[in-house]
Amino acid sequence: MSEWRDAADAAVVVEDEVLGCVVDGLPVALFRVEGEVFALHDLCSHGHARLSEGFVEDGCVECPLHQGLVDIRTGAARTAPISEPVRSIPAREVGGRIEVRI
Ligand code: FES
Repeated sequence: MSEWRDAADAAVVVEDEVLGCVVDGLPVALFRVEGEVFALHDLCSHGHARLSEGFVEDGCVECPLHQGLVDIRTGAARTAPISEPVRSIPAREVGGRIEVRI
């Protein structure tokens, strides 16, 4: 059963940036888009690359390896060579902390 887990200080998850962290052994990439927090599995669905090392732009994160775009809100693949979605992880902000449900 999935549970909410503490992931990071909410103050360090800011617009247009990505924060990589590990929650219960799972690499997670945290984002903030228009004030709302989102989390993705920190692994590109195309290859072995950390999305937390990519660039954030217009609600998408660009994979650092082959520059495919992933929608931060849904994990959907937006551009080639990424074709499979990246796992989207529920995230919320509680009392100045970011929590993810894994
Ligand atoms: Fe991410 Fe290829 S590993 S686009």
